[in-house]
Amino acid sequence: MALITSKKMFEKAYKGGYAIGAFNVNNMEIIQGITEAAKEAQAPLILQVSAGARKYAKHVYLMKLIEAAIEDTGLPICVHLDHGDSFEICKSCIDGGFTSVMFDGSHHTFEDNIKETKRVVEYAHERGVVVEAELGRLAGVEDDIKVSKEDSSYTDPDEVEEFVSKTGVDSLAIAIGTSHGAYKFQGEAKLRFDILEEVQRRLPGFPIVLHGASSVIPEFVEKINKYGGKMPGAQGVPEEMLRKAASMAVCKINIDSDLRLAMTSSIREHFALNPDHFDPRQYLAPARENIKQLVKNKLIHVLGCDNTANEY
Ligand code: G3H
Ligand code: 13P
Ligand code: ZN
Repeated sequence: MALITSKKMFEKAYKGGYAIGAFNVNNMEIIQGITEAAKEAQAPLILQVSAGARKYAKHVYLMKLIEAAIEDTGLPICVHLDHGDSFEICKSCIDGGFTSVMFDGSHHTFEDNIKETKRVVEYAHERGVVVEAELGRLAGVEDDIKVSKEDSSYTDPDEVEEFVSKTGVDSLAIAIGTSHGAYKFQGEAKLRFDILEEVQRRLPGFPIVLHGASSVIPEFVEKINKYGGKMPGAQGVPEEMLRKAASMAVCKINIDSDLRLAMTSSIREHFALNPDHFDPRQYLAPARENIKQLVKNKLIHVLGCDNTANEY
């Protein structure tokens, strides 16, 4: 199995009423934890790389690690640029072997978002690469992007048909109330499924992407705080909502914060219980295992894409 685009994945996911997990990767242990889980679950995967991840690990290291994971697992895997904010970074990832890029023009006006997305789509399609774009704007904090609640906005369903037809984009990320990071909702989670439903009605069969989809698993936050961390309690996206989105037009569900929490909670616990340890393998092996269990459970119980890897 070679690297593939997400085209077939989304066609199958849409028809099957499930979603493909898109997991952010930054190093070898994260890649191994995710891909070992997917192998056991026989699930296709999207591994996504942010600008921050490329800065941290370098493009070539992540690309080679993902190639190694394909060789090791035999799984269909798509490698995707997460939140590319310029034509240049999208081009660099396309030239560097990614099979999918996101051009995130959500900070632009509607017209400029169309213009810039179209430019990326033309470059990508000529090279067999697919493109995700974003309409509406999620709140939250990532390495390079900080969007306050006041600057965030729901996707306007009136804009989606024009946007998709003018850009030729392959999938669309929409804002329905999720946000990036570990602090999503104070109190009850509220998602605008009415917007998703309306978008689905206007773009029948078209794959939709849900960002900011971590559940912010309380067990991990509690463990981090138990062993010296100071994270305020916050609510993520409940699993029933992820399942509901996956049964609708959402074909790609982005998870990063939960992986971070899995890794960090495990490492904090490890040092608290083994204060004399100093070999990185002693704390990275359980951290990798924790990621594996998390991904396996998400894939199997929530997104519904397990046992579909043999369809490629
Ligand atoms: O939504 C983006 C991801 O969580 C990536 O975060 O920019 O800190 O790598 P990052
Ligand atoms: P979380 O912060 O909820 O994991 O979202 C990740 C994401 O949307 C990556 O693009
Ligand atoms: Zn995102």
